[in-house]
Amino acid sequence: MPAHTRVAVVGAGPAGLLLSHLLDRYGIESVVVDSRSREQIETTIRAGILEQGTVEILDGTGASRRVLAEGHKHEGIELRFAGEGHRIDFAETVGRAVWLYPQHEVLKDLIAARLAAGQDLRFGVTATRVEDAGTDRPRVVGKDAEGNAVEIDADVVVGADGSRGVVREAVTGARGGFFREYPFAWFGILCEAPPSSQELIYSNSPDGFALISQRSPEIQRMYFQCAPDTDPEAATDEQLWETLQARVPGTTLREGRIFQRDVLRFRSFVAREMRRGRVVLVGDAAHTVPPTGAKGMNLAVADVVLLAEALRALLIDRDERLFDAFPETARQRIWKAQHFSWWMTNMLHPQPGASEFDHMRQLGELRTVVESQAGHTYLAEAYTGWPLSGLPAD
Ligand code: PHB
Repeated sequence: MPAHTRVAVVGAGPAGLLLSHLLDRYGIESVVVDSRSREQIETTIRAGILEQGTVEILDGTGASRRVLAEGHKHEGIELRFAGEGHRIDFAETVGRAVWLYPQHEVLKDLIAARLAAGQDLRFGVTATRVEDAGTDRPRVVGKDAEGNAVEIDADVVVGADGSRGVVREAVTGARGGFFREYPFAWFGILCEAPPSSQELIYSNSPDGFALISQRSPEIQRMYFQCAPDTDPEAATDEQLWETLQARVPGTTLREGRIFQRDVLRFRSFVAREMRRGRVVLVGDAAHTVPPTGAKGMNLAVADVVLLAEALRALLIDRDERLFDAFPETARQRIWKAQHFSWWMTNMLHPQPGASEFDHMRQLGELRTVVESQAGHTYLAEAYTGWPLSGLPAD
């Protein structure tokens, strides 16, 4: 006999864990499965910028007690081009901010909170498919770490299993999604060094883009634009520092030992469907954005806030309206975030093979933004995040 739960969640990333946390506050039971181990989830280095609304949800619902104490509030970013930095002031333009608090720290907090609440959270359980998606009793089928069959029947199945997850197939079938690939990637490093800047620097240089980010007083995260097929191990540390330094003219980087390197592909994707019957997609399972707008995890949180409300109405009040409206409501924010991520990406990265005209036009675009109050305000509004609808009451 398969086990039964109200909501079966595939994927213990930020989307899946936050959803189970919010559902629990409504007294709705869920099971969360993930093929990875707890250690893998807690140690994978991902992005680090949280919108103000994301921080309010994490702090306000008790999902993370550390985000405000240990995260770093940033009230602006710098756009750097033609050898000069231009600050976009979030506090002054929109009265909002973002927090630098790495995703794996969010995950540690969420996992600790779920386990303390007695959540059925199963690591090492690989979902292989979803059955009976079109019915009101869908089922997750998979196996545990020992190879034993696992079946979980649910009122609703949620795919929070990322861009390579299995739930998407059950929802979109062959219809797939809207997709765009970019002809460049980011070379990311983590290094042991003091911060080179108190705020993030997004730099468009003639040699390509670079982003100077931080992790802590001792550890820094930086990226530079590279070809998608770049081998992360091919360059020496000295070569990497030389490349990075050349990409932020006018700033002197503080160098240190590089202890992690990775290459991040750039893609935009939105699934054509986010729901089929009682099976729903959230987060990266439903959409991917390139990292330039720092929207990935924040968009997942926005999906989940909406879905938690919709599931409360469906499963407690037996009111299907919010659940039926969920894909369309979520899609509106998703496409705004797609546009912002695409816009930041294209404004800041010289395209391979770009002409002199293209380059000069790009500088004209950047100048249009930094010399205009409206430009500052749009960037600040989008970067710090549009208001979240359906915020759960405490
Ligand atoms: C990061 O710190 O990893 C980071 C920050 C901002 C971005 C992307 C990544 O836009």
